[in-house]
Amino acid sequence: MNPVNLLIEEHNIIKEAIEIAKNSRKLLNDSEKYENTVRELIVFFRNYADNYHHHKEEQILFPEMVKANEMLEQGIVFEMFENHSDFRELISGIENFLNNKNYEKSQNLLEQYCEALLDHIAVEDDEVFEIAKSLFDDNELEKIYFRFLDTDSEIGVEGKDELKLKLNEIKKLFV
Ligand SMILES: [Fe+2]
Ligand SMILES: [Fe+2]
Repeated sequence: MNPVNLLIEEHNIIKEAIEIAKNSRKLLNDSEKYENTVRELIVFFRNYADNYHHHKEEQILFPEMVKANEMLEQGIVFEMFENHSDFRELISGIENFLNNKNYEKSQNLLEQYCEALLDHIAVEDDEVFEIAKSLFDDNELEKIYFRFLDTDSEIGVEGKDELKLKLNEIKKLFV
């Protein structure tokens, strides 16, 4: 399997979480439900999006891309690293607003995070991954794919599946 397809699959799951996060605005009239839901989403974004997904990009794919074309280091790859670090700050900001029971502000920041993450995913899908496919041959792609699987195993495949199941549970709150 192509490593890029694995990242795109993860993007699709992250996009499901983004949809739920935007819909959380509907829960604002029930503070407890709102806070619990957004806390679950924070766990998902920190673990699935950051630990499992960004980890593969930052530790494996991006460094391999820079090795193949060092011009990328100051260009689009740099931008992607910057975005990931902005996302971590935004998530902490959302959590701070929750801790202060400032739900309106937390939802506004969550929506800002969602838009930024959607833009980031679009740039990766349309540009970064296309560059990656052009840089590596099938053999190199396969090696990257197996390194992706290894890193998921190190962090824990079960944990990754649990996060997906949890997301489906949260989704049921909105039907
Ligand atoms: Fe990324
Ligand atoms: Fe990504």
